[in-house]
Amino acid sequence: MKIPRTIEELGDIAGKKVLVRLDLNVPIKDGKVFDDFRILKSLPTVSYLKERGAKLILISHIGEDPGETLAPVAEYLGIKLLPADPKKSEVKDGINNLKNGEAVLLENLRQNVGEILNDQGFAKDLADLADIYVDDAFAVMHRNHASIISLPKLLPSYIGFLVTDEIKNLSQAFNPAHPFLFIIGGAKFSTKIGLVKKFIDIADKIFVGGALSNTVFKYLGLPVGISLVESKTLDLNFIKDNPKIILPTDVNAVSNGVPTTKKPSEVLPSDNMLDIGPETLAILEEEISKAKFILWNGPIGNYEKGFSGMTEELARLVAQSDATSIVGGGDTIASIKNLNLLDKFTFVSSGGGAMLDFLANGTLPGIESLR
Ligand code: 3PG
Repeated sequence: MKIPRTIEELGDIAGKKVLVRLDLNVPIKDGKVFDDFRILKSLPTVSYLKERGAKLILISHIGEDPGETLAPVAEYLGIKLLPADPKKSEVKDGINNLKNGEAVLLENLRQNVGEILNDQGFAKDLADLADIYVDDAFAVMHRNHASIISLPKLLPSYIGFLVTDEIKNLSQAFNPAHPFLFIIGGAKFSTKIGLVKKFIDIADKIFVGGALSNTVFKYLGLPVGISLVESKTLDLNFIKDNPKIILPTDVNAVSNGVPTTKKPSEVLPSDNMLDIGPETLAILEEEISKAKFILWNGPIGNYEKGFSGMTEELARLVAQSDATSIVGGGDTIASIKNLNLLDKFTFVSSGGGAMLDFLANGTLPGIESLR
């Protein structure tokens, strides 16, 4: 794909006001940043612009509730937090007081309803604050939000290093080295079915794990007990008897609190399938050893219920392999981080839903709006 203009194409920006859309949606615990993965990924762009003397107005959303605050992130970055409303005099004064190379952060964008409604008036109020717009918020570029879709139409616009890296690395999956192993896990098949359909032509093998495989088992008429399955009715006929698809041959099913390894066909009405079994892990190990390109999104066990063991084993296997490895998805990254393996993968995507949408469609609304 043709990459939009990057910040390396900016001319002299000393003294220019640059509005930088970041994804600083990081976990907060006890009022402090708990996981700085996304902040660290944003810093190269911020430093590059600061070193060239720009005045930075950083904008982001955080959390699921619009009332949530970016105060812990401002504290982490050591910069001033200004109100969310771009029309407030406090915001304008704070920006006018910036010296070259300094930055401020605006409070959670979603405190303004105009953000998620892609309101043109709100986008204009934001645009009025700056001379240039930079988008480095890959993880939110699948959203039809004002700061993503409308801002680039109102200001000269560029992408930062994070978005450039995401586009370059994820695009490798469209023209991969072979054998190409695609590993897909997680809970909701409805959000991933498009991806599996697309990659069935490109990948050599697709391993379907996590609750996604429960849904396939149910579709194939196998017993699933009380396991988590997709509530929507899906047409999974393309998976049936497809030699590229690998499903778990054994599972860790818990019945009345007792975990047991068994074949999917042996699952009882009271069983809850929560992880894959050792035989399946051995199959994955064999496929990983043959693969030259591995794309992995989503845990293969129920992470929230503590069944992270096989996902961590999988992370170790992929990390050790010589294949080009591209991974993403919140829980997948959490397991990789816990094991200190982040730097053992070719590329770790900062996107959750955005990574899935980019892989399924080859672009994102936020990328298109920059053209
Ligand atoms: C994410 O966490 O994937 C991004 O920050 C996007 O957040 P959202 O799903 O709330 O839009």
